[in-house]
Amino acid sequence: MSPIQLSQRARQTPPSPIRRLAHLATAAKAQGTRVYHLNIGQPDIKSPAEFIEGVRLYRDEVVAYESSEGNKRLREEWAGYVDRTLGLNLAPENFLITTGASEALVFVFMTCCDPGDEILIFDPTYANYIGFAAISGVKLVSILTKLEDNFALPSCEEIVAKISPRTRGILLCSPNNPTGTVYSRAELELLLEICNERNIFLIVDETYREIVYDGLSPLSIFHLDPRSERVIVVDSLSKRFSLCGARIGCLITSNQDVLAKTLNQAQARLAVSSIDQFAAAHMLSTIGPDYVEGIRCEYEARRDVLFDALEKIPEVVAQKPKGAFYTVVRLPVDDTDAFAAFLLSDFCCDGETVFVAPASGFYMTNSLGRNKIRLASVLERDALVKAAGLLEKGLKAYAAKR
Ligand SMILES: Cc1ncc(COP(=O)(O)O)c(C=O)c1O
Repeated sequence: MSPIQLSQRARQTPPSPIRRLAHLATAAKAQGTRVYHLNIGQPDIKSPAEFIEGVRLYRDEVVAYESSEGNKRLREEWAGYVDRTLGLNLAPENFLITTGASEALVFVFMTCCDPGDEILIFDPTYANYIGFAAISGVKLVSILTKLEDNFALPSCEEIVAKISPRTRGILLCSPNNPTGTVYSRAELELLLEICNERNIFLIVDETYREIVYDGLSPLSIFHLDPRSERVIVVDSLSKRFSLCGARIGCLITSNQDVLAKTLNQAQARLAVSSIDQFAAAHMLSTIGPDYVEGIRCEYEARRDVLFDALEKIPEVVAQKPKGAFYTVVRLPVDDTDAFAAFLLSDFCCDGETVFVAPASGFYMTNSLGRNKIRLASVLERDALVKAAGLLEKGLKAYAAKR
């Protein structure tokens, strides 16, 4: 009998490009090789003590469902945090708490689009947008940004040319994963203008908002228009508070229809973890600005260390990222999927190797990423220098082998 058929959706949802080679890393480790992980954006920095204290303070005898829109105190505290950090006075009722930014993004796609509707994204892109689109039946339409231009937005004409009668919105991630680009106020203004003119949504993923360098201040799309019916912000505690495992994110918008219809979906999945929300609310009510500023400084120092090391590797092309903790780098190889696999399976220098993410999975047109990788600076500075050294030696060994 032939195998039972799965849905087209299941077959079209790609594996995560950062996890695709994980089995090779596991095999290398099993052989005693130390693997430096530059492939995944899992911060190594300690989560705030205030969050752990919040978990300890949880006292309810029944761990009950929270309300579907999220813990009331957490929504208030998050609005307070946004006010303190951005000077924006947003109503807690405009926040819908989700299981990470990931769930917020799936909700936004489901709320704004029918199957086959289109969302414009900038390529290279956060790879999981491709998965979220596959789950929700949304067609992503890519607009190319280039390494040589530091992944700046293309011209208004190029963006508008991609809009079709089925376009429901534009999705921007700033500071950007995978490129580290921080989009300027003028670029945000341009997108807002286009969305207003065409009456489509502007969805901004601000997961890395405070992680910006070189004296930049965190910029939210809400600074341009806090009350716009067309603007939806996706936010998360995962990165700025090193809380990836807490799974706390949110969707923020003034559009009451979007909130109400998304809440119906949120009710179908019942609620986000009560204990994590309780602890997050406690953390936001007690934590000072030093924690996020400490994280920001550390990532900036790591960016500098990694960038200096990359600049010394012959034929490697990189642009200094302005935020987040990623960078897309061009290598002198024609297939970085094969090269990344080589590093894990056929290369080892003094018992060590490095795990990099091939950039093909971050491009809608996979072939455009074939000669690039994405690096995440989520290791301590000394380890980053070692990892960059291993990358250089790996490139030499790969060239010699060929
Ligand atoms: C740009 C971007 N958006 C969303 C997410 C998902 O974040 P969360 O852990 O809040 O689901 C990530 C995680 O890496 C990300 O890089």
